[in-house]
Amino acid sequence: MRVAVIGVVGRLGRALVQALEDAPFTGPRGPIGWDQPEVELDALTADSIGVLLDRERPEAVIHTAAWTDVDGCARDPELAMRRNGTAVGELAVACAARGIDLIVVSTNEVFDGRRADGIAYLPEDPRNPINPYGAAKAEAERLAIAAYEAPGARGRLGIARTSWLYGPPGNDFPAKIARAALRARDAGTPLQVVADEIGVPTYTPDLAEAIVELLGADAVAPAGERWAIHHLVNGGRASRADWAREVLRVLGIDVPTVDVPASTWQRVSTPPLWGVLAPTPLPSGEPMRDWREAFAHAVPVLRRELGIG
Ligand SMILES: NC(=O)c1ccc[n+]([C@@H]2O[C@H](COP(=O)([O-])OP(=O)(O)OC[C@H]3O[C@@H](n4cnc5c(N)ncnc54)[C@H](OP(=O)(O)O)[C@@H]3O)[C@@H](O)[C@H]2O)c1
Repeated sequence: MRVAVIGVVGRLGRALVQALEDAPFTGPRGPIGWDQPEVELDALTADSIGVLLDRERPEAVIHTAAWTDVDGCARDPELAMRRNGTAVGELAVACAARGIDLIVVSTNEVFDGRRADGIAYLPEDPRNPINPYGAAKAEAERLAIAAYEAPGARGRLGIARTSWLYGPPGNDFPAKIARAALRARDAGTPLQVVADEIGVPTYTPDLAEAIVELLGADAVAPAGERWAIHHLVNGGRASRADWAREVLRVLGIDVPTVDVPASTWQRVSTPPLWGVLAPTPLPSGEPMRDWREAFAHAVPVLRRELGIG
């Protein structure tokens, strides 16, 4: 199967290329990788991406590229909507016109995070984004579904929502919180950690494998359906504080922590406080592993990045 990945320079994109190279169904040439300037979200139209699709003739496209700077998106909501919303709609129109399967990577930030019953979000729960990044990603979902539901559309759409990504090349939440902890330790002060933002840390190599599993099992959407929403996250849930303490524990950084609310820091973008996605079943029946187990796997690379043995 010829598979194209958009956003191969990104954290998830590079994990996907690796997972697709290892997959038996992509053939000896492996996946096709696209990034800027070949695919430029700011100017993407169904016609412009159509030229690339007609030239390379993929049977499936995985769209991971996005403007992931949520504060940047909040400062320029129009540009966020263009890059993360309407560009995805245009891509979907082009793919559906050619019978190409499309997987669009989306986010827990399509939900408002205000539910207080402790129940994880299901794919069918209503979208209600509370920041421009989430609004654009929600619009991308809506436009992509409309494209695959339109008369004459062929192929199938999978929307793969996920949350709290980390993994190579680093400079992610574990690396940032570890650096903050080292600074706090050196200064003799406690580390403030956010206790009221809850989500599911998700390791990009695990997410990439799950997406590849969906493709390999022809399960982008169920047979006879035009589209499906998947929730692909590691197992369990954590507050930012839980995650921070796990990072400190496995790295052996001895510094006291103090729980604080997310509102302690003024941010341009407001994150949903309850960002827990209920994982959807994978074709193998095997759920993605628990987030702590996944994180243990990431620790050697994190140690190298931080220069601690
Ligand atoms: N990060 C998270 O915690 C998180 C959580 C939930 C969902 N997601 C979603 O998961 C997907 C992958 O995220 P990630 O963390 O791997 O993102 P990332 O590391 O920030 O990578 C983003 C990719 O998008 C490309 N890109 C950015 N702006 C672009 C533009 N204007 N035109 C074309 N390409 C552009 C980047 O290319 P350059 O490097 O060349 O700019 C890069 O390849 C995204 O759809 C994101 O919304 C992320």
